Amino acid sequence: VTHGQVPMPPRSHHVVAIDGPSGSGKSTVAKGVALRCGLRYLDTGATYRAVTVAALRAGLDPSDAAAVTACTAALRWDITPDPVTFAIHLDGAAVAEAIRSAEATAAVSAVAAIPAVRELLVKLSRSVIGSGRIVVEGRDIAAVVAPDAGVKVHLIADPAVRAARRAAEQGRSGEEQRVAAELVRRDHLDSTRAADPLTVAPGALVIDASGQTAEAIIDQISTLVLAEPV
Ligand code: DC
Repeated sequence: VTHGQVPMPPRSHHVVAIDGPSGSGKSTVAKGVALRCGLRYLDTGATYRAVTVAALRAGLDPSDAAAVTACTAALRWDITPDPVTFAIHLDGAAVAEAIRSAEATAAVSAVAAIPAVRELLVKLSRSVIGSGRIVVEGRDIAAVVAPDAGVKVHLIADPAVRAARRAAEQGRSGEEQRVAAELVRRDHLDSTRAADPLTVAPGALVIDASGQTAEAIIDQISTLVLAEPV
């Protein structure tokens, strides 16, 4: 009897986790990798933002854990996990614009700090991830949502670079210092909260995006993804 090929461990997979703070270029890189590698795409930050929009529309205090959790549990989600047409519909209505509003951005850290909301959104993300073939961006993807991801990347960038990028995205050139202050505030909230703070997961590759183009980072990650056994 000869030994046959040793079967690969049952990895369903091709899950690519991309974590990092806001303004690190996560979304551009994550979408680029998904396009390049023919994978689906999920922006988990958008789900926290969507809950925030729902809570604000319901007139809730974003730090009222019980009320925001009940609001979250009642939502009907429809997510299009595609790098080009990514969309979230909440109870049938698109929320693409509302989730980028200044109000939602200011309130989202409070909502994302509620453990029961995180639990619901981790479940939601896992249901979208399903059997894989997807790039997932967020803060706790490698550490919590998909610890078995085959590729884990933690993107960082200089605060000044991140603020410049955010200011340009939001049409707020000239307001870099104000944008930088908002970023620092949100970083602090996101990395010091008790529930799943933003940390570098074991096994994650840390890439500093400061001096590199998105294209170069997409190349680097795509090479890892395409070398991964499926
Ligand atoms: O990436 P973003 O700026 O769209 O994220 C919005 C907020 O959601 C941010 O304050 C951190 C939080 N977030 C989180 O706690 N966990 C995730 N997986 C993704 C985002």
